[in-house]
Amino acid sequence: MGEEDDLARWQNLAFGYVDPRGAPWLRTAIAGRHEQVSSDDVLCCAGAQEAVACVAGALLQPSDHAVVVLPIYQPSEQAVTGLCAATGVPLSYSDWQLDVDRVAASIRPNTKLILINFPNSPTGVGLDQQTLLALVDVCRRYGLWLVNDEVYAQSECDLARASVAPVVDSYERGISINGLSKGFGLPGLRVGWAVCREQAVLARALHAKSILSSCVSSASEILAHVALRSEPTITARTREIGRQNRRHLHSVLAAFPDLFGRDDAQTLAFGFPRYLGPDGADHFAARLVRDAGLMVLPSTLWRSPLGSVPGNHVRIGLGHRRNAEGLDAFQQFVAVRRAA
Ligand SMILES: Cc1ncc(COP(=O)(O)O)c(C=O)c1O
Repeated sequence: MGEEDDLARWQNLAFGYVDPRGAPWLRTAIAGRHEQVSSDDVLCCAGAQEAVACVAGALLQPSDHAVVVLPIYQPSEQAVTGLCAATGVPLSYSDWQLDVDRVAASIRPNTKLILINFPNSPTGVGLDQQTLLALVDVCRRYGLWLVNDEVYAQSECDLARASVAPVVDSYERGISINGLSKGFGLPGLRVGWAVCREQAVLARALHAKSILSSCVSSASEILAHVALRSEPTITARTREIGRQNRRHLHSVLAAFPDLFGRDDAQTLAFGFPRYLGPDGADHFAARLVRDAGLMVLPSTLWRSPLGSVPGNHVRIGLGHRRNAEGLDAFQQFVAVRRAA
């Protein structure tokens, strides 16, 4: 898939240290995914998670306070709670919607940022434009930074109706985190990024990065550039795998209406049905891994000291071709156990 310039970079690859911000041509390609940003507004990191940690390090002091919307990937939550006090705002249990008034009510005089993750993992919900604008309004009123982990943006079921524009394009203090680990299916490259329109913040994030990875792997930078240029081809493949697995999952769930609720997750990366069995999702997941060698993630894994998380769901991965085989084994396991 590489074009000539990438091929030349690959052939001349020297494995030296490279620009700690990320190669200019890689940052230009990332900036090109946004409306109002240039390559100087991009910081490349070793994965999206490092980008979250660097941004938190750039913005938060021990005397600050942050608001974290739950559920959220624990390392992101910890990137914040390791630095300052935080208040969790859980999505509503009934429909996973975000209550912006509740976010506003948790703001304190020393609140500095709001951390969100939409499209959300593990619930698979997006953020509609109206809610985003309401959230931006609140942030603007209090001068807060709005950091969104957008790693699942390329995995949304319906990209034409994709839930939300990157926050960096919607708000001057919005910071978008993304990378190649999910929709591109390339987590082993360890390439993620933060995009932010205030360069002083990115300079501080770069400083935070200096105690982490220093720079992205020089080989990964070239491969990441190839991947970004080939986004439609690469994501078409991962999306087709996800679509097939999602159909497969829904037919499996439909066979056991007494054991699973509907899967409303609007993502091709995973399903997130409620488990209705009397033993509970934790027990079910433990039996599944022990007796069938299959791993699903019970929603209690997203438990947080900042607030309650949905208790009885299971997150079922859809992103790999081999998940099809896993779903067949899952169906067999559930059928046998139910018969027993
Ligand atoms: C919501 C979310 N954000 C970030 C990450 C980490 O991404 P990366 O592997 O690019 O660091 C994950 C990984 O599972 C995730 O689920």
